[in-house]
Amino acid sequence: MADVTGDIFSPSRLGDLLMRNRVIKTATFEGMCPDGMVSDALIEHHRRMAAGGVAMTTVAYCSVSLEGRTYGHQMLMGPDLLPGLRRLSDAVHQEGATVAIQLGHCGHFASRDVIGQEPIAPSRVFNLYGLSYSRPMTTGDMDRVAGDFARAASMAREAGVDAVELHYGHGYLLSQFLSPFTNRRKDEHGGSLENRLRFPLSVLRRVRGAVGPSYPVLVKMNLSDGFRRGLQLLEAVQVARALEEAGATALVPSGGFVSKTPLYMMRGAVPTWEMVRVQRGWFRKVGLTLFGRLFVQRYPFSELFFLREAREIRRAVALPLVLIGGVCSRASMDRAMAEGFDFVAMGRALIHDSSFLHRVRRGETERSGCDQCNRCIAEMDAGGVRCPCADEARDQGEGHTRSIEKEDAAPAKPSTTM
Ligand SMILES: Cc1cc2nc3c(=O)[nH]c(=O)nc-3n(C[C@H](O)[C@H](O)[C@H](O)COP(=O)(O)O)c2cc1C
Repeated sequence: MADVTGDIFSPSRLGDLLMRNRVIKTATFEGMCPDGMVSDALIEHHRRMAAGGVAMTTVAYCSVSLEGRTYGHQMLMGPDLLPGLRRLSDAVHQEGATVAIQLGHCGHFASRDVIGQEPIAPSRVFNLYGLSYSRPMTTGDMDRVAGDFARAASMAREAGVDAVELHYGHGYLLSQFLSPFTNRRKDEHGGSLENRLRFPLSVLRRVRGAVGPSYPVLVKMNLSDGFRRGLQLLEAVQVARALEEAGATALVPSGGFVSKTPLYMMRGAVPTWEMVRVQRGWFRKVGLTLFGRLFVQRYPFSELFFLREAREIRRAVALPLVLIGGVCSRASMDRAMAEGFDFVAMGRALIHDSSFLHRVRRGETERSGCDQCNRCIAEMDAGGVRCPCADEARDQGEGHTRSIEKEDAAPAKPSTTM
């Protein structure tokens, strides 16, 4: 475990990396990589997060290969990316923070239009997003993809990125292997949990081998897929133990499956109309308008919504754990520390106000003004992730956010927007 002092603002360590506190800006896909490259907007986004006082900011969803992308505006690891990534790392370091990059492969929900071939996956699955079937991976595919992860991690390190976060959750490729719902294989990679873990663990070992023993490798994993036939908590605890043994530096327990339970991982309002607005093509617009409410279930928001399940992981492993999911107040950060977590990660609270942490530290606010309207999700595909509420408040001259000031701080209520 990292040194736990009970203070969110105390220095911390991940592997050989020293950091100024215990708050991480989590991966939230930015939608700021035209043609897969780093843009000035992406650099400024992460520089602002760093200037807001976090210990680490996470660049989101960088695909380890062309076939692992859902969109053309998703970052793609390769030699051409490195100069931009280097500029981004430098900008973050100048603000006193560190930077991680989330590495992933989206498996069966890759877009056929973007990758120009059949998506690959553990098993043949219909992909609702790309309206195509996936091709079951061969052992040769597995070897190649594990190599892509290892190569991507080495390149990130070469570009000055301080840590990698491997995406093992949310229904992405490695999560598709872990989930009994998407992994229907009959060979040594399917069936028992031991078999379903075989390929994901080989990826982690290859990455560890490529970056050396003390470079921080975080793993974002699912506590549960959020539906009956998916991965459940009992198995997730064993996954956590196996990841610890295979060389993960820290775990980020999350949950949900983007292709089945997309809002399980964040909770709150369903921004259907905003999503319809940013769809490309009338077919998708009409489809989402008619059927969106059937596919996108509602999950009421509550503060620290993964705490109860994450405690089970805390009991099972000794390595540093990052508590994520509805961390939006000083009280929830302190609670995470008191419960034995080493870090907290925040997404929407920092999209809403990148200076939230500074303001907490200065005693100016105790709670984020983010009301989990989730309109930020639609913005990823409409020019770049941002909080429309904060921008509207700014335009109306209401100061820079709607953060709730200290004397008004009240417990979070479930969102009533939807
Ligand atoms: C706009 C947006 C984009 C996201 N993109 C990603 C992503 O690329 N990778 C990922 O692992 N999680 C992604 N997430 C989920 C967050 O990392 C996080 O798990 C979730 O929002 C819960 O944290 P929060 O309550 O602090 O927002 C995204 C969330 C939002 C709101």
